[in-house]
Amino acid sequence: MLKKQLAGEKAVEFIEDGMVIGLGSGSTVFYTIQKIGELVGQGLRIQGVSTSRETTLLAQSLNIPLVSIDSVNEIDLTIDGADEVDRNLQGIKGGGGALLYEKIVASASRKIIWVVDASKMVESLGKFPLPIEVVPFGHKQVIKKMELEDCQPILRVKNGSPVQTDGGHYIVDLHMNKIEHPQKLEEKLQNKTGIVENGLFLNYAHQVIIGGQEGVKIKT
Ligand code: 5RP
Repeated sequence: MLKKQLAGEKAVEFIEDGMVIGLGSGSTVFYTIQKIGELVGQGLRIQGVSTSRETTLLAQSLNIPLVSIDSVNEIDLTIDGADEVDRNLQGIKGGGGALLYEKIVASASRKIIWVVDASKMVESLGKFPLPIEVVPFGHKQVIKKMELEDCQPILRVKNGSPVQTDGGHYIVDLHMNKIEHPQKLEEKLQNKTGIVENGLFLNYAHQVIIGGQEGVKIKT
């Protein structure tokens, strides 16, 4: 079995009947969602809150009941993937471009579990380019500012056009290689007009399920 499949499937063990579950995005949580679909078919009652159009389509194809984030009081548990995670469970997300909705769902969640394969565990964050979600209007101005801050910004492009998120924004990836002070960088990014959200997820995850050579490990 693939390492990401091991991690993704393990996460369903934390789901209880009646829960509202945040459904993350990406190829690892794909396995979680597939497993949830199986369990729903066997009678598990949950309500899912999706973090992306892609996840919505997947959940619908598996007959997982979905509700809008604004119709729930709170999300009991969110299961999501991550692009990099350090030993203190600080992470980078947004490789798939869903960071804004993922962070909104995470912010409304009582508990968050990330599912990753072992290659995502790192000593320090930043080798994976940090995605920021920017408003299309004036995005080149934001890129210029990020260049001046030595953040090595590159607009994410697919088939010759800027990648557009579910929220209608662009993604700029910051190729910093190593983020020395994630908190300071987060503050800086939060204070820049035109940046809607950044992919630093600091103090969000409660547990990380890591799929590796010898099976799964859970880090709390
Ligand atoms: C999407 C994300 C994903 O959770 C992250 O990129 C991990 O994806 P994968 O499991 O496919 O490696 O943040 O915005």
